[in-house]
Amino acid sequence: MKASRLKEFKIDASTLLRELTSEDAGSLYALVDSNRKYLRQWLPWVDRQQGPRHAEQFIEGARNDNQAGVALTLGIEHQGDIVGTIGFHEFDNENRQTSMGFWICSSHQGKGIVSSSCERLIEYAFTDLRLNRVVMKIAEDNIRSRRVAERNGLVYEGTCRQSEWLYDHFVNQVIYATVADEWLTDRAVIS
Ligand SMILES: CC(C)(COP(=O)(O)OP(=O)(O)OC[C@H]1O[C@@H](n2cnc3c(N)ncnc32)[C@H](O)[C@@H]1OP(=O)(O)O)[C@@H](O)C(=O)NCCC(=O)NCCS
Repeated sequence: MKASRLKEFKIDASTLLRELTSEDAGSLYALVDSNRKYLRQWLPWVDRQQGPRHAEQFIEGARNDNQAGVALTLGIEHQGDIVGTIGFHEFDNENRQTSMGFWICSSHQGKGIVSSSCERLIEYAFTDLRLNRVVMKIAEDNIRSRRVAERNGLVYEGTCRQSEWLYDHFVNQVIYATVADEWLTDRAVIS
């Protein structure tokens, strides 16, 4: 189930998912820094990013995990700029499942970029990685993120109460998931 071979996914003429390199650290940090308020609403790690050095550490960790095949974190490049990140958290190889995480800067949201990027990565998970289940764990009130899950055919499975700490309060998280036979069958019917 190693994700080590394919590290680039072309989504369309403008959008590419690719591995981040140390050269992206400055621009990735600047992107987070200029989107703090927007990202902080739903992501717990924003305050820990306090300079390009932290972005460098994040990228180095992501590259190591990608290389080891334990996770897959990619930058979302749109018209030549990194505009967010997307990927799979730790692969649970025994149960052939994984969960997804993603964010995109506010100026590029609402254009379908994350939805179409998720679609490509879910296909990769089920076809190349031969995983059986893909999960998204989302704060209950994060409607945009829930739409990304629903748009990609993930099904609501339940709510974990007060399961994520966001700076000064707990939020409930909803679990969305899809499984390989269901997702691949639905796509085959549509296409
Ligand atoms: C959630 C997020 C990743 C969505 O990315 P995106 O590229 O904007 O997503 P898409 O454009 O592919 O789809 C967004 C969906 O939300 C809808 N949407 C956009 N703005 C909205 C708003 N203000 N209120 C409700 N829905 C909205 C879009 O219409 C679309 O739904 P549709 O399929 O019904 O048209 C992005 O908003 C983001 O990074 N938010 C901050 C960080 C975050 O929440 N990360 C996810 C943590 S689980």
